[in-house]
Amino acid sequence: MAPTRRPIDHPCCEEAAPVHPVEACALVLFGALGDMTRRLLTPALYHLAQSGLVPTPFAFIGVDHLERTAHDWSEGLHAFLEALTNGNGEDGSEPGVDAAAWGKLAVAMVYVQGDFEDPALYRAIGEALQAQSQRFGGAVNAVFYLAVPDRFFCPIAHQLAAAGLTRDQKDGARSFWRRVVVEKPFGHDLPSAKTLDANLLSALREDQIFRIDHFLGKETVQSIMALRFANGLFEPIWNRDRIDHVQITAAETVGVETRGSFYEATGALRDMLPNHLFTLLSMVAMEPPVGFDANAIRDKKAEVLAAISSIAPKDVVRGQYDAGSVLGEAALPYRSEAKVAPDSNVETYVAMRLEIDNWRWAGVPFYLRTGKHLSTRLTEIAIRFKQAPHALFQNTSVSCLTPNWLVIHVAPKEGISLQFDVKEPGPEIRLAGVKMEFHYADWFERHANVGYETLLLDVMQGDQTLFMRADMVEQGWRIVQPVLDAWTQDRPQFPNYASGSEGPAAAADLLERQGGRSWRPLTELAGDSK
Ligand SMILES: NC(=O)c1ccc[n+]([C@@H]2O[C@H](COP(=O)([O-])OP(=O)(O)OC[C@H]3O[C@@H](n4cnc5c(N)ncnc54)[C@H](OP(=O)(O)O)[C@@H]3O)[C@@H](O)[C@H]2O)c1
Repeated sequence: MAPTRRPIDHPCCEEAAPVHPVEACALVLFGALGDMTRRLLTPALYHLAQSGLVPTPFAFIGVDHLERTAHDWSEGLHAFLEALTNGNGEDGSEPGVDAAAWGKLAVAMVYVQGDFEDPALYRAIGEALQAQSQRFGGAVNAVFYLAVPDRFFCPIAHQLAAAGLTRDQKDGARSFWRRVVVEKPFGHDLPSAKTLDANLLSALREDQIFRIDHFLGKETVQSIMALRFANGLFEPIWNRDRIDHVQITAAETVGVETRGSFYEATGALRDMLPNHLFTLLSMVAMEPPVGFDANAIRDKKAEVLAAISSIAPKDVVRGQYDAGSVLGEAALPYRSEAKVAPDSNVETYVAMRLEIDNWRWAGVPFYLRTGKHLSTRLTEIAIRFKQAPHALFQNTSVSCLTPNWLVIHVAPKEGISLQFDVKEPGPEIRLAGVKMEFHYADWFERHANVGYETLLLDVMQGDQTLFMRADMVEQGWRIVQPVLDAWTQDRPQFPNYASGSEGPAAAADLLERQGGRSWRPLTELAGDSK
């Protein structure tokens, strides 16, 4: 749908700077026949091709263990795109596969079959890259994207290095880069994250490693810095003098679906906190960087994480869903899901309170919660400002003031809203809470997006701003490690929340016991997020 509003002209701004050109490169995709490649990476690449952001020349090299021809691989992905684009328009695209855009990808699709742990595979990949050199007029820049289970991250990185494929290439005076993209999980706890980092860094340089956190592909998340630092309005009140507390929520209505075995080994805390929710928190709480280069920004995010003390288990609530009803449909308990142990103690919900011990935030609690089979699907960052003094309204009919909330709606309806009190029309002094709302869809044309477009483009451009650095990953695990340790010692009373509810009752106590605060009610927020 076309936007109903037009962004306000900036009289002092020149034309927007052109997008940085993307250098010719090959994308070597490990896990070419996997779910991740089909559902997310191929549509994202296709959308980039539609926007003219796939470089020329470009080579798309798939690596997986089943026997396929390049033609089979290409046909399979094309069929998926066709189903996607002829479907319900969920990805925002026009119906039908755009032949010109697909042509930019299909022109050089190569399939290399082999086992990730077999050195012969890496010789074949080297040959496939070499075979492109004529089209590229010499050496080839390459992104190696590891869309594979995490047990393969280190073996692949080392095999690539041993085969000389990660060495930057020289061709006369020109140099050609090699980059490696790693999908989460980046470890399962602090020791394993440190081992993973040390292992990757023994094969690659940090500036070659792109650790993807797909939450950062979301438009509103990227715009947090613009909201904070491009507006004179917010930064002066963005601190402990004005902010009472912050709530970060990632609520899902889905359960574990087909991912029972993955979830049994992971749980809500490992799956969501050290990466996604801490990423949102660090963007909300970081100091202004000196510039917009990747390391300046990542330094500031890392400083926030370093200023958070490790969390005490008493400040964390975990839950597991029972039977219930989600969006009107009967829902099974977690313990009855496929590939889940009938006595599983894995948490499907977690809520925690933490504090950032620095000048800006000392004394301001940050409450984070995430869970499955909840009443509403939404991801948001809600900033609650301190209450105005009531004295002025003492002898009026005003008995209480509603709080001021600034809410960054991350999903599903991307936007920003501000809640404040106004006087109700009429002779008496009565106050009413109202909301000003901005929705991206009202102001900007919607581009088809599966959330990986910006991230893929950034990798090809060598911009690491939106990617996790080793120290950020390790800080995330350090913060939650005492909780992981404590949870190995006791048996929780599970299940403890009904599917389709707001989560376990104890999560409410977490806020109530400190200043009588309460969570923003998910059920009431459902209307905001549609
Ligand atoms: N899927 C998602 O929606 C999603 C979302 C976010 C992040 N991720 C992350 O992305 C990565 C990939 O996920 P995925 O679900 O696509 O993984 P996947 O399907 O389990 O594996 C990717 C592909 O690698 C193949 N493979 C497995 N072992 C191999 C070997 N030894 N040699 C060669 N090929 C081998 C698999 O074949 P088989 O199927 O025959 O084993 C599959 O085709 C994971 O790190 C995951 O955590 C996934």
